[in-house]
Parts: sequence; structure tokens; C-alpha cells
Amino acid sequence: MAQDIEHPKTLHGERAPSCSIVIFGAGGDLTKRLLMPALYNLARTNLLPDNFALIGVDRLEMSDLAFQNHVEEAVRAFAADKHYAQTLDESNLKRLLQSMSYLSADFADAASYQQLGEKLKQVQQSQQVSENVMFYLAVGARFFGGIVDHLGQSGLVGETNNFWRRVVVEKPFGHDLASAQTLNTQLRHSLAETQIYRMDHFLGKETVQNIMLMRFANGIFEPLWNRDHIDHVQITVAETVGVEKRAAFYETTGAMRDMVPNHVFQLLALTAMESPSSFDANAVRNEKTKVLNSVHRVNPATDAVRAQYSTGQRDGQALKAYRQEDGVAADSSTETYVAMKLGIDNWRWAGVPFYLRTGKAMSKRQSEIMIQFKRPPFSLFRNTATEALTPNGLVIKLQPDEGAMLTFGAKIPGPKIEIGQVKMDFHYKDYFQNAPSTGYETLIYDCMIGDATLFQRSDSVMAGWDIVKPLQEHWGQGSSQPIASYAAGSDGPAESDALLNTSQRSWRALS
Ligand code: BG6
Repeated sequence: MAQDIEHPKTLHGERAPSCSIVIFGAGGDLTKRLLMPALYNLARTNLLPDNFALIGVDRLEMSDLAFQNHVEEAVRAFAADKHYAQTLDESNLKRLLQSMSYLSADFADAASYQQLGEKLKQVQQSQQVSENVMFYLAVGARFFGGIVDHLGQSGLVGETNNFWRRVVVEKPFGHDLASAQTLNTQLRHSLAETQIYRMDHFLGKETVQNIMLMRFANGIFEPLWNRDHIDHVQITVAETVGVEKRAAFYETTGAMRDMVPNHVFQLLALTAMESPSSFDANAVRNEKTKVLNSVHRVNPATDAVRAQYSTGQRDGQALKAYRQEDGVAADSSTETYVAMKLGIDNWRWAGVPFYLRTGKAMSKRQSEIMIQFKRPPFSLFRNTATEALTPNGLVIKLQPDEGAMLTFGAKIPGPKIEIGQVKMDFHYKDYFQNAPSTGYETLIYDCMIGDATLFQRSDSVMAGWDIVKPLQEHWGQGSSQPIASYAAGSDGPAESDALLNTSQRSWRALS
């Protein structure tokens, strides 16, 4: 098993140290849509190292030039889509493209790794790049273990004090607790924990990072952030997209594995964790893992709902049912929506329900965290029952309309005492100019500078799988549990409303 080695730190905002990036899956969709535009953005903002090389690795045969053209096309398409094609930084784009070469390889063949080693040496010499290397696994999960084994056997991930070797692993990290543990053990044969960067792209989103800042860089929230003041918390990740062209992946994955133990639980952890002793990677990740380990065992029969979209409509347009989508079995029982109620057994949160929901083909694309505060204990206002006072809510809006909103009651002008609901509404775009980004910029940069704060440590991955284990067992293969349904373009199934209605609560409407 490899040992942890400390490398010199680069300060945030400084150019990353000289390194090469090797992307496995260089011909794939992730590389094209997200990684390449992100690398261009890093070049444009002077964060990419001066001495840098990129080797794209994939199965298809391609010349260096064809690969560079493919990347150029991807960056230009991204720029056009984000409406800045006119202002594209041509010289940085050119520099980036010139640093790229391509290797056609069979991920399962040892000879390919020998060729990769030679190619690395060659670019390090010809482009005066240091021996630091980031291996980015932008490939299907079934390849992760095999690629890392080969990297290990061919000596490509051995570190010294003078250079680092890091491996970025995309999600999904396993498909349940046991498989995640097996994969982890396999990776640890060749890599130290500090060399493994487990990706959760939600952590690259500015607004997700802002949850911690909002909580811990302001004095007014933390005193209220506990069971004395908070009635419940809702976490919503609603998408309008259906399964699109990903049926092969989605049919065997479903909404829960795809979204919950990773993205949704990261939001849960950031909302519920204790203050870390610093923003150091281990301090933050300790707290996140601690809170996930405090989630009490979920009862699948009473505390969770899974559902699949049926036909519906949005803006007058008819929408297909999941079972009618290309590549989906006509009798598929894969869930496209999941909701659950969780409790956290610690002094801060005991008794405060956390309701989580995520789904595809819903009425709106909306990701947010809503903190609902307790009602005032009694009403001072004659003729106004306490129950009629709407509780205060703080909504952290993650996407697409990024910001935060606080709702509260105010007097409606006039001789009568009447209370109206008003809101203070902060929109990011009103304050900060943000250049179009993919969210991967921060994560690639952080890996280059060795800051693992925004990557998942193995214990937090395992904690996530452990929470959903009872649900996976209950709903698993061959299960006779029925699946609820909801109309595509709606806010989700009635069964999910019932999860809250039993305690006189309701989901915040998607709006
Ligand atoms: C991915 C899931 O991890 O996240 C997709 O596999 C999902 O199914 C996507 O659509 C959502 O990410 P974003 O950044 O579009 O909100």
C-alpha cells in the first residue's frame, strides 16, 4: 500500500505547479463538454501551469492534430453556448491546444501503460514539464479499478518528495456499500488516500461552496442553526431533463444511486456539519463524515418514497413516460424520483427532520436548501391563530437562480392588523460578475495544487452508502415493492407529499 507523502503547497490563486494531465476517456462526452472548457478557463485566468502537457488517452485511433481539433471544437461550442465566442482568448486557447497530444490505448492492456510511460517522459522533456502527473479517469466506473491496477503495476503512480502523482476518480464510486469498499481496497493497493481525488462535481459549484461560507463567515445564522430554532430542513435537487441518451447507464442506476449518496448527501453534510477547526481539507472532511455517520437508520417502509415519471406535459408540450424513452425497458422499475426523511442523532439536530428529494422530468429545474424555522410560540395578534403565522424560511438557492431568500411576516398597511408574507431576496448575479464556468475549473485546479477539501474522502463515501443501504435492500433486485408514479412535468408523486403531510408540513413548491 502506498504511503502518504507531503508535497509543497501552492497558494490558492497562484498558478498551479508544472504538471501533466492524462485523461482516460479523452474521446468521451465528459471530456468534451466539461473538462476541456474548464481547462481553457484555467488557461484564460492564468491558473494553468506555465509548463503543462496534456495527454488524451482513449480507444479510438486519432492523431495529435485530430485530437487538438476535437478539443478546439469543444471549447468553441462551449463559448458559443455561453455567448462569449467573440471574446475567446485565442492565444491562450492556442497555447492549450499545443500542449496536447493523444495516445490510442486499450485500458486493459499492460503494453498501453508502458507506451503511456514513454509518452509521458517524452512530453516532459520536449515541453519542459515536471514529473507531476494527474490521471483523470473520465471513463465508465467499470474501468476505474483496472486502470489504477495497471497504473500501479507499471510504476506510473509512485510518488517521491519531488513530484506527485494523483488520480481523479469520477462518480459513481461503487454502486452500494460493499462495492464501494471493494473498489476502495483495490485503489489503495496502488495509491495512498492522499493520491485519490474522488470527484463530486456538485462541490465545484460556487453556490454549494457558499453554504459553508454563509454559515461560518456570518454571525447571524449559526446561533439559530439548531433544533431550538429550526423546525425542519428540505433539500431539493429537481431536474427538468429526463433520461435523455443515458438509458444504458440510468436503467441500472436510478435516481437514488445517481444523486443521493453523492450530490444530495454533500448538500446535507454542508448544511448540517459542525464548524470545522479550519478550512483545511481534513478538518472539513472530518466534520462532513461525522455528521453523515450521525444519520439514524432510515425506515424504508415509512420514511422513503421512490417513483417513476409517467406521461405528462410542461408548457403545453407533451412529455413521454420514462418507460417510453429510448433504451428503457417497457416494464422498467427503475426510479427517476426519490424522497426521504432523515434524522440526525446529535445535540444540534435531534428531532429535526431533514426531507430530501430529487427527480428527473419535474416541473422546474431547481436545487435549493430550505431551512424552515419554528413558529413563534404564541400569537400577540387577536384573531390570528399561531398556526396562521407562516414560519420564517431561509432558502439557499443553488441553481439555476443562485442566491438566498429569507421569508418573514410584515404588517399589511391599513387599520386592521393583518400579516403578509414578504421576502428578502439576494441574487448572486446582482452583486457578482461570474465568467461562464463548468464547475470543473475549481476541482481540476484544486487537484493540481493538492487541496482535497472539495473531494470526497473514502470514509464519507462509505457513510453515504451506509445511509442508503436499508433502502437499497428494500427496493433491490427482485423486490416486489411497488413503485409510485408522477406525471412528467409535475412536482413529484403524491406519496412524497404524504411524507411531510403526516406531520402537517409540506414541500416548498417548485416555482
Ligand atoms: C450527474 C448525474 O452526476 O449530475 C446526472 O449523473 C444529473 O443524472 C447531474 O443530471 C446533475 O448535475 P448538474 O450539474 O446538471 O446539476
